[in-house]
Amino acid sequence: MNFSAPLLGSVSLLLLFLHVVHLTANASECNMFIGRWIHDESYPLYDSAACPFIEHEFTCTKNGRPDLDYTKYRWQPRDCNLTRFNGLSFLEKFRGKSIMFVGDSLSRNQWQSLTCMLHSSVPNARYNLSRVGDVSIFTFTDYRVKVMLDRNVYLVDTVQEKIGRVLKLDSIAGGKLWKQIDMLIFNTWHWWSRRGPTQPWDFIQVGNEILKDMDRMVAFEKALTTWGQWVDANIDPSKSQVFFQGISPSHYNGTLWNEPRAKNCLGQKQPLLGSTYPGGLPPAVAVLKGALSKIKKPVTLLDITNLSLLRKDGHPSIYGLGGRTGMDCSHWCLEGVPDTWNEILYNLIL
Ligand SMILES: *[C@@H]1O[C@H](CO)[C@@H](O)[C@H](O)[C@H]1NC(C)=O
Ligand SMILES: *[C@@H]1O[C@H](CO)[C@@H](O)[C@H](O)[C@H]1NC(C)=O
Ligand SMILES: *[C@@H]1O[C@H](CO)[C@@H](O)[C@H](O)[C@H]1NC(C)=O
Ligand SMILES: *[C@@H]1O[C@H](CO)[C@@H](O)[C@H](O)[C@H]1NC(C)=O
Repeated sequence: MNFSAPLLGSVSLLLLFLHVVHLTANASECNMFIGRWIHDESYPLYDSAACPFIEHEFTCTKNGRPDLDYTKYRWQPRDCNLTRFNGLSFLEKFRGKSIMFVGDSLSRNQWQSLTCMLHSSVPNARYNLSRVGDVSIFTFTDYRVKVMLDRNVYLVDTVQEKIGRVLKLDSIAGGKLWKQIDMLIFNTWHWWSRRGPTQPWDFIQVGNEILKDMDRMVAFEKALTTWGQWVDANIDPSKSQVFFQGISPSHYNGTLWNEPRAKNCLGQKQPLLGSTYPGGLPPAVAVLKGALSKIKKPVTLLDITNLSLLRKDGHPSIYGLGGRTGMDCSHWCLEGVPDTWNEILYNLIL
């Protein structure tokens, strides 16, 4: 008798321990990025017309897009169910904290989506939208939650020097803005292939070498390595969570989704059903995953490429900036695909 009580105690402790381990294993076993799109009339999560600060560029319906089906798809992971986004719990979780997206206009797309998702869940809560340099700051005043966007298309620095504008693959002084932020979501890719008048640099520097140009995929990888070293040197994982928004795909070539006559995404009204994109993954995904695997501090990849590849229907096409960009099959309409990126992000931080 004397021995059985402590024995029972340790057995139940062991059972409790196994139970906890089991739960943890279940949650981490599920890759939320493997799955398919399901038509769901309870979507979208908000009404972009009721999001007063949303940029014209993303409001496809307001810009004349006639079909609405593209707003009514929910991502269904194969091995688990997503918890529906709850803006109130999100704001409570981040009370007094800061979130920053860092990257190009795809980061702006996701940032706008998140601010609209949060605003629509607390439409009467006060907010303040301001801009300091390259940083847009959206504050939910009552919750002291800051949701920021640092526009920084390469993550590494571009510096004006005597010879011209130099893209420095080993230099990341821009990182001074990212310290002390509670949750960071980085992204860079789309600008690495720019050439001609919209390429914002004249030379590219690697170590002491100044080049006129180089293999862009190699340059991308070097910049990601520099960024990874910044993460290892500057991030305190007990304070900051780091994410990388994966490669967001474009849809300018219908051959890749078995519609060879489509030259772009105009008129695409349905996603690809199923889980496989016939055209395969953009090569940048492998480069990104390789670079992320070398980082010692925890960085979570928002592996959004596959699920977004299936959404040839999700882009503004001619219902974005209209005349200025002509055909936009790179960004995403809002409401739309980036809402799902944020819903998965929400499930990862719950
Ligand atoms: C997901 O939800 C469906 C429908 O509610 C349910 O039948 C299924 O068991 C759930 N799957 C998991 C893995 O929880
Ligand atoms: C809005 O934010 C800006 C910059 O952070 C600040 O200067 C301004 O005082 C804020 N306005 C209000 C009403 O809180
Ligand atoms: C579209 O993709 C196919 C298959 O990869 C390729 O052969 C073709 O050249 C591409 N078309 C354009 C216009 O890039
Ligand atoms: C992602 O898509 C590619 C191309 O369709 C496919 O080969 C791969 O298995 C997919 N991965 C996942 C995790 O769904």
